[in-house]
Amino acid sequence: MKFKTALSAALAALCFLGLPLSANEIAKGQCAACHGLDGNSVNPEWPNLAGQHASYVAGQLRAFKSGDRTNPNMSAMVTNLSEEDISALGEFYAAGQPKIGSIETEQIAAGESLYRGGNTEKGIPACMACHGPNGAGNPAANYPALRGQHAAYSSLQLKAYRDGTRTTDKERKLMMQSIAQKLTDDDIEHVTRYINALH
Ligand code: HEC
Ligand code: HEC
Repeated sequence: MKFKTALSAALAALCFLGLPLSANEIAKGQCAACHGLDGNSVNPEWPNLAGQHASYVAGQLRAFKSGDRTNPNMSAMVTNLSEEDISALGEFYAAGQPKIGSIETEQIAAGESLYRGGNTEKGIPACMACHGPNGAGNPAANYPALRGQHAAYSSLQLKAYRDGTRTTDKERKLMMQSIAQKLTDDDIEHVTRYINALH
C-alpha cells in the first residue's frame, strides 16, 4: 500500500515535471528489484538512490556503462540504457524521498567528529565540507548526497576508494581516494553509521 502511494506520488511528480514516463517504467521493471520501488533498497549492500542528485545518478550510470565503474550486479543493468534513459532515471530517483536510518546515542560522537571536523593530525578534511552539514551533498559541484545511505554500502565504497578499485573520481584529482586512504576501518565504521542516521 505504502509502495503504491509512493509510486503514484512519484508518477504525479513526473507528469508535473513533464518527464518521460519511461524512466518510471524502467525503474519499476529493471531497477526496483534491488533499489526498491521508491528508490530505497532493502539490502544494505545495495545503495538507496532516492533523493540522490540527478546528475550524480546519471554520471554513475555512464561510468558503469563505459566500464569506468564495475560491479557484477550493476554492469549488466546499464548496457541497454540510452543517454535519454540515463538522464530520465537520474531525474526519477532525485525526486524520491531518502529513508533515514537510526543510531544509538552513544555511537554518535565518533562518527560526528570525523564527519563535521575531519582529523587535522591525519590530514583528513571534514566530510561536511563537500557532503554538507546534513549530508545533502552539493548538486552544483556534483558532490553526492550521503544522508540515510546504508552503512554497509558506504563502507564498501570507502574501502573501494581506499584500495583503488573505485576510480570514478579520477577526473577530480582522485579526491575520494586520497581521503579514504587516510581512514582506518574504525573510522569507516563510525562515519558510515553516522551518515546512515544523518539528515
Ligand atoms: C541485481 C541488483 C541490481 C539491479 C537490478 C540494479 N542495481 Fe544499481 N546497484 C546495485 C549494486 C549492488 C550497486 C553498488 C555497486 C558497487 O558497489 O559499486 C548499485 C549501484 C547503483 C548506482 C550507483 C549509486 C551510487 O550512489 O553511486 C546507481 C546510480 C544505480 N545502481 C542505478 C541502477 C538503475 C538505474 C538500475 C536499473 C536500470 C539498477 N541500478 C539496477 C545493484 C543493482
Ligand atoms: C573535497 C570534497 C570531498 C570531501 C572532503 C569528501 N568527499 Fe566524499 N565524495 C566526494 C565526491 C566528489 C564524490 C563522488 C566521487 C566519484 O564520482 O566517485 C564522493 C563520494 C563519496 C562516497 C560514495 C557515495 C556513493 O553514493 O557511492 C562516500 C561514501 C563518501 N564520499 C564519503 C565521504 C566521507 C566519509 C568523507 C569524510 C571522511 C568524505 N566523503 C569527504 C567529495 C568529497
